[in-house]
Amino acid sequence: MNDEYSKRIEVQDLTETPPIEEPARQYFFMAKARQYVQQEQKRLGRPLTAAGITFGCQMNAKDSEKLIGILEQIGFEMIEDESADLVFYNTCTVRDNANQRVYGRLGLIHSMKKKNPHKKVALCGCMMQEPSVIEKIQKSYRFVDLIFGTHNIYKFAELLVTMYSSDSMIIDIWKDTDKIVEDLPAKRKYPFKSGVNIMYGCNNFCSYCIVPYVRGRERSRNPKDIIKEIEQLVSEGVVEVMLLGQNVNSYGKNLDEPMTFAELLKEVEKIEGLERIRFMTSHPKDLSDDLIAVMKHSKKICRHLHLPLQSGSTRILEVMNRRYTKEQYLALAHKIRAEIPDISLTTDIIVGFPGETAQDVDETIAVVKDVAYDNAFTFIYSKRTGTPAAAMPNPTSDEEIKKNFDRLLKVVQETAKSRVGRLTGEVHSALVEELNEQDASLVSGRLSNNTIVHFPGDASLIGKIVNVKLLEAHGFYYIGEISEKSS
Ligand code: SAH
Ligand code: SF4
Ligand code: F3S
Repeated sequence: MNDEYSKRIEVQDLTETPPIEEPARQYFFMAKARQYVQQEQKRLGRPLTAAGITFGCQMNAKDSEKLIGILEQIGFEMIEDESADLVFYNTCTVRDNANQRVYGRLGLIHSMKKKNPHKKVALCGCMMQEPSVIEKIQKSYRFVDLIFGTHNIYKFAELLVTMYSSDSMIIDIWKDTDKIVEDLPAKRKYPFKSGVNIMYGCNNFCSYCIVPYVRGRERSRNPKDIIKEIEQLVSEGVVEVMLLGQNVNSYGKNLDEPMTFAELLKEVEKIEGLERIRFMTSHPKDLSDDLIAVMKHSKKICRHLHLPLQSGSTRILEVMNRRYTKEQYLALAHKIRAEIPDISLTTDIIVGFPGETAQDVDETIAVVKDVAYDNAFTFIYSKRTGTPAAAMPNPTSDEEIKKNFDRLLKVVQETAKSRVGRLTGEVHSALVEELNEQDASLVSGRLSNNTIVHFPGDASLIGKIVNVKLLEAHGFYYIGEISEKSS
C-alpha cells in the first residue's frame, strides 16, 4: 500500500496549481514537501529526521500513525527522540496532568532549539482545540513553528509546506468539521494489529468531559471504507483490529443509510483472514441486546468489554450526565455476564467529582465488588474549563478525595487479582505481541480477554496466535508455556 501512495506522489506535476479536492490536494503537497526534504538532505549531507511524541488515548495513537505515514512519504527518517529535525507533539487534554506534561516537554525542547535553529516544532491534538492553550503558547512558547488541531490532521503535508516557507508561527485550528478524508498513508506501529477509526467525535457531553469540545460532533465513517481498510490491513498481515470511537455503540446513526454497531461487527466478522476484533469504547446507555448477541455468537470478537462506569452512585451519575442509574448499569453487567460467561469486563472510574461524598464512593466500591472487574482505570477528577462540572462547587477536600481514591484502588486491585487468576491451568490462544522487556527468552502475548501472558519463545512467534497453557497467575498477568492442545 505504501508503494501505491509513493507512486501517487511521484506522478504529481508541481508546475500545476494544487488541486482543490481531497485527498488529491494532499498528494500534491506531499510531493512538494518531498522536494524540500531532498534539497535539505543534499545541503546537509545527511537524512532529515523526525520524531512524534504522542499523549492520550488510542484515537491519538491512530492519528499519530497517520501523521508519521505522511512524514515517511515525504522522506523523513523517523527516530525515537526529540533531537530530530522536526518534532511533533500530539497532545491530550482529558485531565490537567496531560497538559502539564506537554508544557514540561516544551521547556526542554526550547533549549534544544536554541542550539539548532533549523529545528522545527509542531503541536497538534486535543489540547490545541482550546483557545486558552493557543493564547498561552503564543505568549510563552513563541518558538513553536506549527499548531494544528484534531479536525485537520489530514492536511499535515500542506501545513508543513506552509511552515517551511514562513518564519512565523503557523496556526490552523478548526472548530468542528463534517468532513472525513479517506485514502491517506499511515505507518502502523505493529505489523500484526491495528486500530481502525469507525467514528470521530462525541455527542454525549458528560458534564466533566472535554472530549466533545475538542473532538467535535459524532461522525461515522462509511462502512464500505471501514471494510476496505480492514481488508487491506489483513492483506498486509494484520490479524487483529481495534475498532475505535468514543462511543462505538452509537455508530452509524448519522450515515445516509443508517447502520448499527452490531450490524457493522457482523460485516467485519466476515473478513477472511481477520482473526480477532476488539473495540473501544462502549457507553453503557447505548449498549444493545443485538450487540450482546453478536458478541456471544462471534468467533472473532474478543472476550473483553470495556464498559466505563465513572461512578456507582446514581446521584453522581445524574450530575455527570451519564444517563444511566447504578441499577441499570448493574443489570446490564449481569446480563452480559449471563450471556457471555467467559467475558472480562473492565471500566473507568472518576473519584472526586464535585459534591461526591465518602458514601458515594462506598456505592462505587460496592459496584466494583458486584461486577468483579478484571481491571479498572481510576482517575482523580480534573476540572476542565468550559465543561458544566467546572462551575460546580466541590466542598470535598483534596485529602478526603485522596483517601477515597486509595480505598477504591485497593478494592479494584484485590478484585482484579482474584478475577485474572481464574483461568490458571487452562489452555488459551494468545496473540504474541513482543519480546518480553525484562527477559528476552520470553515473549508476551495477549489473550482474547485482554490479559497478558509471558512464556518461553523467540521473535519468530511475534504476530502469531498460539495456544498457551496458563501456569501461574501473577497479579495482572500469567506465566505460561506453549501447548499443543487447543483451548
Ligand atoms: N469515550 C470514553 C472515554 C474517553 S476519556 C467513554 O466515554 O468511556 C477516558 C476516561 O477519562 C473516561 O472514561 C473518564 O473516566 C476519564 N475522564 C474524562 N474526563 C475526566 C476528567 N475531567 N477528570 C478525570 N477523569 C476524566
Ligand atoms: Fe467524554 Fe462522555 Fe464522550 Fe466519553 S462519552 S468522550 S466520557 S463526553
Ligand atoms: Fe485525550 Fe483527546 Fe483522547 S483529550 S483521551 S487524546 S480524545
